[in-house]
Amino acid sequence: KEFMVRAKVPTARFVIHETFTEFKSRITQTPYPKVLKLDGLAAGKGVVIAKTEGQALDFADAVWNKRVFGPLPQKLLEEEFIPGVELSYLGFCDGKNFIPLSSSTDFKRVYDNDEGPNTGGMGAVSPSPYHTPEIEIKIKERIIVPILQQLQKENFSFNGILYIGIMIDKNGNPFVLEFNTRFGDPETQSLMMRIEGDLLPTLVSTAQGTLASAPNMTWKNETSIFVVAASPGYPDSPKIGSPISGLDDFSADTEIFFAGV
Ligand code: GLY
Repeated sequence: KEFMVRAKVPTARFVIHETFTEFKSRITQTPYPKVLKLDGLAAGKGVVIAKTEGQALDFADAVWNKRVFGPLPQKLLEEEFIPGVELSYLGFCDGKNFIPLSSSTDFKRVYDNDEGPNTGGMGAVSPSPYHTPEIEIKIKERIIVPILQQLQKENFSFNGILYIGIMIDKNGNPFVLEFNTRFGDPETQSLMMRIEGDLLPTLVSTAQGTLASAPNMTWKNETSIFVVAASPGYPDSPKIGSPISGLDDFSADTEIFFAGV
């Protein structure tokens, strides 16, 4: 978030808290609902959208007092909630150049109709239905160019995959929710079904800092949909040990991926 401010990329207003006492005394800085994010990996459980002060305090209590997410110290990000639709914008970066992958959107609530607890993603679609030519221009101008300029200004040669989580608000403006320096799960499963040719030359160019002369990646002009099948109780207390069956019943254009089985 601090890099986003320095690069002047659009992002929700935020405050960083470091202790429960400090959180409690400053909690009124953004209106409700507000987003609370734990600084660290939490298997999709480190983010809550608090509708009331009670919910915000409960989460802070779980982090700092009950230590549900592990030992202290933990930082908590409090940020303004931006209603809209999400777009996962991934690309290869060598510090000076950025080659985007095709677009995707993942869906994080565990049950149908976008209900239930948050997960890392129960499914994804590529290309994203929210990726339009207009939004592509805005993302390039307002996010990618400033990121590359700031990386160079800070003499920070980031070579790798950059996952930019974007919220598109009701006026069609993109805001960066987060950066991840890894592929997205499950976005990548739907993306890789559409890639044409070989990924390896792009990976090598990323590592060697030669993306400027790397060929653009090409994508099948087809839609890929990825759906997660999880055990009952997922994500909080999934039932372990259930047999998996029926894998022969899928058509030839279906790929099965396994994770945590
Ligand atoms: N699907 C969300 C993520 O990979 O962070």
